[in-house]
Amino acid sequence: MASAVTTPLLAGVSLLITAGPTREAIDPVRYLSNHSSGKMGYALAKAAQQLGAQVTLVSGPVALSTPFGCRRIDVQSAQQMHQAVMAEVANMDIFIGCAAVADYRPAQQVEQKIKKNRDEMTLSLVKNPDILSDVAARPDRPFVVGFAAETQDMEHYARDKLSRKRLDMIAANDVSKQNIGFNSEQNALSVFWPSGETQLPLCDKHSLALQLLQVIAEQYKEKQD
Ligand code: CTP
Ligand code: CA
Repeated sequence: MASAVTTPLLAGVSLLITAGPTREAIDPVRYLSNHSSGKMGYALAKAAQQLGAQVTLVSGPVALSTPFGCRRIDVQSAQQMHQAVMAEVANMDIFIGCAAVADYRPAQQVEQKIKKNRDEMTLSLVKNPDILSDVAARPDRPFVVGFAAETQDMEHYARDKLSRKRLDMIAANDVSKQNIGFNSEQNALSVFWPSGETQLPLCDKHSLALQLLQVIAEQYKEKQD
């Protein structure tokens, strides 16, 4: 008797994911960064691979091992992450921007260690390129999913980012709550797309990643049809 064979949800789908923080060099020994363990992005990469996708992970500096079967490109700064993503994004079906990209970088990167010979110092910063917006602006754009870390008015800010960055979907988390988001093993997400939304309640990041990929796959396939 023939056994039933089910096609994995993301079979034949190529997926590009950014994960982790970026580091913006101030001098050879110092940098600006933000709280991000990379766990959510890595959980998404692992879950997508398990669901049959071909996964490329562009990763900032994290203390995590590469999920089985995923291709990983390591970067440090937002500019390097931008460059790596632009080099990889052609022919991708889905892009998920999960990285906590530093919004600004030091205007000057000095070559020698800054000495503490002044009582005050001012650091001048310039804005980094927005990777997610630049992917969404491409004529050959993949299905684009963003993340939004918010501390207040989550739906308002998430929907604003969804339309302003021309995304297909955005997954928002409330980083003001303890046990959610940054560095935590667990997370909860509110997911918004132009014609709908869904809540993914608090659970471990691997189960959450599988649930989010199901929502992404549904909307991705709907857009293909
Ligand atoms: N993002 C990006 N490139 C940047 C900044 C952010 O690709 N230079 C992506 C993040 O990976 C995330 C989404 O944009 O998917 C939203 O990040 P967030 O920090 O919440 O939003 P910002 O647009 O940076 O706005 P703000 O920090 O002012 O809320
Ligand atoms: Ca930001």
